[in-house]
Amino acid sequence: MEIEIAAAPAGKEASEARSVLRLANLSKSFGGVQALDRVSLQVGRGEVHGLLGQNGSGKSTLIKILSGFHAPDPGAQLWIDGQEISLPVAPGALREHGLSFVHQHLGLIPSITVLENLLVYDLAIADRWAINWRAEAQRARELFARYDIRLDPLAGVSRLSPVERAQLAIVRAFDWLQRTRGGEGASGLLVLDEPTPFLPADTYAYVLETATLRASSNFTSAPGMT
Ligand SMILES: Nc1ncnc2c1ncn2[C@@H]1O[C@H](COP(=O)(O)OP(=O)(O)OP(=O)(O)O)[C@@H](O)[C@H]1O
Ligand SMILES: [Mg+2]
Repeated sequence: MEIEIAAAPAGKEASEARSVLRLANLSKSFGGVQALDRVSLQVGRGEVHGLLGQNGSGKSTLIKILSGFHAPDPGAQLWIDGQEISLPVAPGALREHGLSFVHQHLGLIPSITVLENLLVYDLAIADRWAINWRAEAQRARELFARYDIRLDPLAGVSRLSPVERAQLAIVRAFDWLQRTRGGEGASGLLVLDEPTPFLPADTYAYVLETATLRASSNFTSAPGMT
């Protein structure tokens, strides 16, 4: 099931050209379980979408196909910014196309610090020695202050509360988009897979507000929530 929160765009062709993401004919079965059955989804620039469905209806499966964790069944098609991308995508490949994810189980590494988690994708692609840790710690403090979050960049993630972990995962996703897609005219898509059950009501509202604000300025969000 799909609910489009944003207003429907004018013409079909115009809207497809403006789409940040378009999926067609996406199916996925796990043995005898059909998790996704010919799903289509189109997300336009500046739109906020919510994927609604009961437990087990396939929301996470769709997001895991985008993040390269699962391969879809043959026949699916995907376009990012109008460019067709062949499926399956390699794990994390769509980050390079401006997609940023917060997974249902957050995807943090508990045994390392807040700062190392914040930069974990940089660590995966860059030489560790090329990172100026002192400058990055300061940048992280400013980043957390901007989001009104009290996190010590040098603290171990294993010591964080569930709320703090969710905050870190969400800010990390925003930060990745901001750093990699902050340029004029660059589109980006933030994909949230139910990270909010861990959050108190006021923080939950804040995440939605921030996502909506970002969408209206530059980026697009697709929170998957039940
Ligand atoms: N790795 C897997 N192996 C086998 N079956 C799976 C696997 N992942 C998901 N499924 C099945 O696919 C279906 C869709 O699961 P999915 O996790 O995508 O649902 P969901 O909408 O995210 O649910 P929830 O609201 O509980 O997070 C379910 O029937 C689930 O049991
Ligand atoms: Mg799920």
